[in-house]
Amino acid sequence: MKNKFVIRKKELKDCEAWIDINISSWNDNLKGIVSDRVLKLISSNKDEKIKHAIETFKEDDNHYVLEEENRVVGILKIKNSNRYGLEDCGEIQMLYLLSTEMKKGYGKALVETAFQILSRKGFKKIVIGCLDGNSANTFYKHLGGRVIRQEDFHLFGEVYKENIYLYEIK
Ligand SMILES: CC(C)(COP(=O)(O)OP(=O)(O)OC[C@H]1O[C@@H](n2cnc3c(N)ncnc32)[C@H](O)[C@@H]1OP(=O)(O)O)[C@@H](O)C(=O)NCCC(=O)NCCS
Repeated sequence: MKNKFVIRKKELKDCEAWIDINISSWNDNLKGIVSDRVLKLISSNKDEKIKHAIETFKEDDNHYVLEEENRVVGILKIKNSNRYGLEDCGEIQMLYLLSTEMKKGYGKALVETAFQILSRKGFKKIVIGCLDGNSANTFYKHLGGRVIRQEDFHLFGEVYKENIYLYEIK
């Protein structure tokens, strides 16, 4: 059963949870898909990353969190896409949940929120990039996304493939 949750803008107090969820999501979901070296680099210097995030924090309308019973369990970042030929699209740049909180409808709720906000900003098309091999690919297909191409995804000097999903908003 779905607990009570709220999706709201990221605040200064969320910087630590944001970094935590980002790092744990990579380790829980992308082991064997990206190299151990990449996972080690993403997980390194966590305290400095949190400090930097706090020092440079500025509220905006691109970063959101999903909070369940006063605990942040999911993060979302949206933006205007800067992918070649897709500059007229909105983009979901980050969507991560704690592994313990998956399959409760939160991913879909965050995607729907992203679509609403981007649609209000005037975007009629939304893109999402998902690393090839990530199980989230089937989630994006399930929500009606269509793969329009693959792109190279550069991570610390290594090159991976990313599937680009397109959604047309009615
Ligand atoms: C991908 C992710 C955001 C999905 O969120 P979630 O909360 O687990 O998914 P939901 O519970 O909202 O599921 C919504 C629907 O998608 C389906 N679904 C969820 N995960 C799925 C998957 N991996 N494959 C196929 N369908 C999936 C659900 O069954 C549900 O279907 P329904 O609406 O018909 O009942 C989440 O699993 C996650 O954070 N994964 C790790 C991070 C990640 O890889 N993020 C994407 C980076 S590109």
